[in-house]
Amino acid sequence: MAEAKTELPGPCGGGGGDRFETASPPRVARRLMLGPVPIEPPLFQAPMAGFTNYAYRQMVRQFGGVGLLATEMVCARSFVCQDACPADPPERLWGVLDEPRPLAVQIWDNDPQILAQAGARLAEEFRVSVVDLNFGCPVPRVAQRAQSGSYLLKDPERVGRLVECVVRACHPTPVTAKIRLGCRPDQITGGQVAEAVEQAGAAALTVHGRTAQDLFRGQADWERIAAVKSHLRRIPLIGNGDLDSPAKAVAAFRQYPVDGLMIGRAALGRPWLFRQIQAALQGQTVPEEPAGPQQRQLLLLHFERVLQRFGPEKGTMLMRKYACCYAQGLRGARQFRGQVARVASPDDFRDVVAHAFPRGGSKIGETESLQNKDAQTGRYCS
Ligand SMILES: Cc1cc2nc3c(=O)[nH]c(=O)nc-3n(C[C@H](O)[C@H](O)[C@H](O)COP(=O)(O)O)c2cc1C
Repeated sequence: MAEAKTELPGPCGGGGGDRFETASPPRVARRLMLGPVPIEPPLFQAPMAGFTNYAYRQMVRQFGGVGLLATEMVCARSFVCQDACPADPPERLWGVLDEPRPLAVQIWDNDPQILAQAGARLAEEFRVSVVDLNFGCPVPRVAQRAQSGSYLLKDPERVGRLVECVVRACHPTPVTAKIRLGCRPDQITGGQVAEAVEQAGAAALTVHGRTAQDLFRGQADWERIAAVKSHLRRIPLIGNGDLDSPAKAVAAFRQYPVDGLMIGRAALGRPWLFRQIQAALQGQTVPEEPAGPQQRQLLLLHFERVLQRFGPEKGTMLMRKYACCYAQGLRGARQFRGQVARVASPDDFRDVVAHAFPRGGSKIGETESLQNKDAQTGRYCS
């Protein structure tokens, strides 16, 4: 793969409270359309398995600044099988029926009929705003065992056929696709896949600027994301990878021909990041990072939401990793991580948060902040 040529500003480029003195306003669309669905601002919350459940999405919505939220990826096959033996919808659809729109649900499989059935049901019964198809997941369970996700990037025509079936089944609900650059650095197929996806009637394409083989190593290659644009005539291109500050988002819009940006890991412990980026894109004052005590309160609110759904045992386990995300980049985070990793009950959790949650220090733009092992390695299924 070509060396990452991304010239995004350095880690501390986007401090809270800064006003971006832009020589010219960022070349940024105020909104984009996914078929009939307006997305404003053109900022997308990345789907992240094990993380972007309803509790997290509520935290993000609370601050605003995000144009489209997305669920975790949902296994279309399990979802469709439950048609035959009615049961609760998969856990990953928690909240989807009732929460505000716009909302995207992401599904994965490699069978056109299964994807189409799942998509149609999400469109008709769940009335989701967007059905997103996963062609980027590199984890062995999906890419190797199920020959889905990023496995399919080696066959652009097959991707096109899958998208076409789902588009037909979901109409008029827009269908989008999320891809990586290719399977391997010596097999970059993003351009061909983009053409196939567009011809098949998709409403947008998101490109994460790494290959499947890269997992999360190195830097996202924004030059290669940009190169995909020349393969698209009609649909928006959403760039994704390593954006963790308002300044980097502004720079990405300025330097690369993308129509929207997707942000994942950096917003896991900073659900207010989208609002900060939105302000920067509009040339407004970037809201300050919430102060330490406020962040602690937000973490506890997030915890209560998770507890309501998952109960004390599973809820506490689940919150350990979010707690690490909230603390990342703050002074004292390491010590806190060590303690919170051992909590086993809600009372333990609240106690550790009350006594050990870092008291201060900004985490804006600190790339070292992507240290949560699960989040960094992209462990999709937890
Ligand atoms: C823990 C984790 C889970 C993820 N789960 C999904 C997923 O379910 N579907 C998907 O398309 N991408 C998934 N991704 C990839 C992200 O959506 C995104 O493409 C990637 O993290 C790069 O963006 P970022 O640098 O802003 O985090 C996941 C990433 C992580 C770290």
